[in-house]
Amino acid sequence: MLLSSVLLASCEDSDTLAEQRLAGGLATFGTSHLVRFDMPVTSLSAQQKADFYAGRALAHQPWVTAPASTSARDGLGPLFNARSCLGCHIEGGRGTLPTDDSEPVFTAFVRLSIPGESIESGSVPEPTYGHQVQTQATGLKSQLGLPTGPGDLRAEADLRVIWEETPFKYPDNTVVTLGRPRIDLRDIAYGPMHPETLFSLRQAPAMFGVGLIEAIRQSDIDRFADPKDLNQDGISGRVNQVWSVSDGAISYGRFGWKANRPDIETTVAAAFADDIGISNTLFPVQPCTEAQPLCLKQPTGNNQDGVELPDDLLSLTVEFLRHTGVPAARLSKDHKVGEQLFHSVGCQQCHQPSFVTSDDAPTVHLAGQKIWPYSDFLLHDMGDGLADNRPDYAASGNEWRTAPLWGIGLQKNTGKTLSLLHDGRARSVEEAIIWHGGEALRSRNAFVELDKQDRQQLIDFVEAL
Ligand code: HEC
Ligand code: HEC
Repeated sequence: MLLSSVLLASCEDSDTLAEQRLAGGLATFGTSHLVRFDMPVTSLSAQQKADFYAGRALAHQPWVTAPASTSARDGLGPLFNARSCLGCHIEGGRGTLPTDDSEPVFTAFVRLSIPGESIESGSVPEPTYGHQVQTQATGLKSQLGLPTGPGDLRAEADLRVIWEETPFKYPDNTVVTLGRPRIDLRDIAYGPMHPETLFSLRQAPAMFGVGLIEAIRQSDIDRFADPKDLNQDGISGRVNQVWSVSDGAISYGRFGWKANRPDIETTVAAAFADDIGISNTLFPVQPCTEAQPLCLKQPTGNNQDGVELPDDLLSLTVEFLRHTGVPAARLSKDHKVGEQLFHSVGCQQCHQPSFVTSDDAPTVHLAGQKIWPYSDFLLHDMGDGLADNRPDYAASGNEWRTAPLWGIGLQKNTGKTLSLLHDGRARSVEEAIIWHGGEALRSRNAFVELDKQDRQQLIDFVEAL
């Protein structure tokens, strides 16, 4: 369905409903049978379209071990988590966790650090394993699952999750089973970790619509920040302060579960380097520490600039993401009650419905658009139940960035188990809400106290965003 038919369908309803359906303004695409989220906005010029598809191919294609005949896409690893972006961001959307520990985790990874501060990396890396546990290695024997000797490169560990389930009972006696994945690192290959290692399991979030998120003026986000809770509504909201490699300075954090990345370019360049092991000018090193000499000795796929990803290919991947649209909301008059409930229990205090993007944004469909991400993009203390106890730049172990809600209900259409919240623990919107604590506790409790039918109306509204 094209944008025009989204618009046509909307004409029959009230103006606000029509506006809200266009969740990404001009950058909205229709969603009749949508199973993928890496769709271009409709208003791209011929050149932008060509760049979009070239960038999309780079995000889809599996990278290969260096040296290879296809030197344009070699340099994988030597340690890595996945061979392609879409390997984790399923169809451009989010990842999914295995339902038990018989299968390794593929779309999520574990961040590591030890206590201390680092201006540039936000936290001090674990001395042997670095910032992230890489669960795959280019070593042939370890790829084939054969026994390895001292000369064979091995993955850092095998990541599994063990689910702990606890029943939750509503005042009306309805029971929901809440699941929580515990990190289980097996076959740790490079000796014991530092005794004070901090761990954070992070699920791949959706990556569409980031061009619009980047186009929101920082001053519009700052308006909702209230770090000292001066208005005493129990909700603070802070802006993360992170290192921008491209500026060589501290900047505002906007992307990632703890808003630990300042812009799309840094997010993508870091993903290439850490998740796939493809070095680039922003992150020019291989994912090996000094304690991993065999890793450091592996051949690289470096080009004449001494990195594996040329700048023009990094830009294409960034342009692809910048020009992915947002799926149209599936809202109808039937969702009015759900919407009112969403507001009356206070979800919108953090899940800020709309913004108008900056007029200075690079293209027509990104500039001056009224968009409906349902996030304030600020950090909130979400309580001990959700805490990873691992600081990330200025974000504490309890703080998380309000997750945007647009397109959330469509994720089910990919046929994968829904996997919400930073570590993918919630298998439904309902579970995600019940896990809310800290600053969100009052709102969560108000939800819990609704009667069953009202809870369902609120959930239906969220799933139609
Ligand atoms: C191994 C799985 C994995 C791979 C491969 C991967 N990502 Fe991610 N991605 C993640 C996780 C996990 C996060 C959240 C990280 C965090 O919060 O620290 C993320 C975050 C993002 C975000 C931020 C989204 C937001 O809402 O803020 C973007 C954009 C993104 N990735 C793009 C990419 C691109 C482009 C590639 C390929 C170069 C890629 N990712 C490869 C797992 C992956
Ligand atoms: C105090 C701020 C705050 C309030 C109030 C709040 N949320 Fe959230 N919400 C967050 C944050 C922060 C996250 C991300 C937490 C995490 O990943 O651990 C989140 C995550 C979610 C998610 C999962 C999104 C995803 O991509 O995984 C859903 C669904 C959600 N909230 C719905 C609601 C609803 C419905 C309400 C009202 C009952 C609500 N929230 C109230 C801050 C808030």
